[in-house]
Amino acid sequence: MKILDNYKGIALLSDNSESDLEYAAELIRQGELVGIPTETVYGLGADALNEEAVKKIFAAKGRPADNPLIVHIADTEQMELYAHDILPAAYRLAHDFWPGPLTMILPKRDIIPFAASGGLDTVGIRMPQSEFTRKLIRKSGRPVAAPSANISGYPSPTTAMHVCHDMQGKIKAVVDGGECRVGLESTVIAFEKNNTIRILRPGFITPNDLSPYAEKIITDKAILNGLSKDEKASSPGMKYKHYSPAANIILIEAAKADFEKYVYDLIPDKGTYVAALGGEAKNCPCSVIHYGNTPQECAKNLFAVLRKLDELDAKQVYVHSPGKEGIGLAVYNRLIRAAGFEVICL
Ligand code: TXA
Ligand code: MG
Repeated sequence: MKILDNYKGIALLSDNSESDLEYAAELIRQGELVGIPTETVYGLGADALNEEAVKKIFAAKGRPADNPLIVHIADTEQMELYAHDILPAAYRLAHDFWPGPLTMILPKRDIIPFAASGGLDTVGIRMPQSEFTRKLIRKSGRPVAAPSANISGYPSPTTAMHVCHDMQGKIKAVVDGGECRVGLESTVIAFEKNNTIRILRPGFITPNDLSPYAEKIITDKAILNGLSKDEKASSPGMKYKHYSPAANIILIEAAKADFEKYVYDLIPDKGTYVAALGGEAKNCPCSVIHYGNTPQECAKNLFAVLRKLDELDAKQVYVHSPGKEGIGLAVYNRLIRAAGFEVICL
């Protein structure tokens, strides 16, 4: 075995070793949990067909039982083993975007336990880009259920070290696939009548990318707003606190000049930080972290920066949001939740 290291009691497996692949596949077959790399964020993987294994995921994360898991497959044909009544648009999307950061909600077959689907009759299916993770699915002979491998409510992990930090004492192994290329979770979509696609969670695949595949693309209202008390969520994940570090995050929506003016007036304090875009806020009296020049870079770095701020013992963080166009919508969606919907518009 080419185990790279052992970190906080978790074996760090290589994504480039046959024997590590065999070991990870054996863990999955035995109903154990394995931290797995994907292009979006790291997942906490288990055999999707094994109810006991699936329940271990919920226990390790502290995840509410009604929040369904995404089932990961390695070949498009496997979609039909776990879902039925698949529309032609879903096949076209699978052909054009898989392997990749797109999850499709489809009617579930009985073989997927309700423990995995949070009691729903539907199942989210995705084919991840990581070569290793697809090999793991083939080698284990099981579809792999995997939510993001963070403690529920905390920012998702984008490195194997983040997984070790959150899953210490809870899992035996994590596969080190390096830093995640996208950095934010997959775009989640559902199919509705009248040739409509509803986006339940925005991601790297944007509304524009999806527009050739349906007459109408609806961006669910809950993406940009909190749900009111009695409102029913289109996706259970919308109900819960998310992406939230220990520090208090305040989101600032403003043009560069207004943002700079605002943060230059802050009273410096060692617990106060500013998360800025590009080279802005250079003369700020508080500590500044830059999290990206482009929305893509912001997406890639966001979760790592939120985790870093906790390491720095930040108490109050003023974050400049990128625009809501393209992948910016996904960044904004995560930030507004990290901020508990506390937004300052200038
Ligand atoms: O990129 C990703 O999607 C990552 C990697 C590991 O693949 N996974 C991930 O899983 O983000 P998780 O569990 O953290 O988020 C899945 C989201 C949740 O908000 C959940 O409510 C929603 O997808 N979801 C899953 N199945 C659903 C279903 N049947 N109906 C509606 N929403 C569903
Ligand atoms: Mg998650």
